[in-house]
Amino acid sequence: MNIILLGAPGAGKGTQAEKLAAHYGIPTISTGNIIREEVRNGTELGKQVQKYSESGQLVPDEVVVAMMEHRLAQEDCQKGFILDGFPRTVPQAQALDQMGCAIDKVVDLEVPDQAIQERMTGRRVCSKCGASYHVKNNPPKVQGVCDKCGGELVVRKDDKPETVLERLKVYHAQTKPLEDYYRERGNLVEIAGLGEVDEIFARICTALEG
Ligand code: AP5
Repeated sequence: MNIILLGAPGAGKGTQAEKLAAHYGIPTISTGNIIREEVRNGTELGKQVQKYSESGQLVPDEVVVAMMEHRLAQEDCQKGFILDGFPRTVPQAQALDQMGCAIDKVVDLEVPDQAIQERMTGRRVCSKCGASYHVKNNPPKVQGVCDKCGGELVVRKDDKPETVLERLKVYHAQTKPLEDYYRERGNLVEIAGLGEVDEIFARICTALEG
């Protein structure tokens, strides 16, 4: 099964992607996590994209598309994948079509902008594996420590309130049009993204299997 997760920053794409990956036994590919890892490792690519990702702007399409072409060609994607954060613009969606990956479902997580700020201020992410937590809504078992790999939990650089506002603006201008793009192709499913994490996960599974 090839799945795309769409939704605003903080809509819960990463949280649901992890659960879906475990449930369906297919990998999650998060462009945001790949980009942050490149920045952390100080690679050439990391240096090139840091200013975009930390200020809430999108990394140029050609950079992200090349990154994804390489990633999707790897062995672990052959049985299916979950895309978290890609595509994010219409040209990226067109490039994905040209890669020849048939997409089964595009899950659009709908969360009003007002709820996003609260989610972002409480978010903590693992500095090693990128897993996402929330101090109140989805806390780790031990405060400040990742359940999965024991890494330190930190606040993301782009979760500052003013950067979150910028990311929401960018989302509405550049990513929202993808809803129509996939609606016209008949594979968009809209999921209410407010509620408990497990409740939302059950809604997604019902939509994928229905
Ligand atoms: P990326 O990392 O993809 O960020 P994003 O899309 O802005 O999404 P987030 O990771 O912020 O949120 P999420 O939807 O995954 O929510 P989460 O599950 O963590 O991208 C970062 C940057 O990289 C971009 O700004 C851009 O610069 C660049 N980039 C990435 N992809 C790109 C592309 N394709 N093209 C160009 N540039 C690209 O949840 C958020 C919080 O809410 C967490 O604390 C979580 O615990 C909590 N939460 C989750 N579900 C619930 C719930 N049901 N109730 C309450 N709280 C919840």
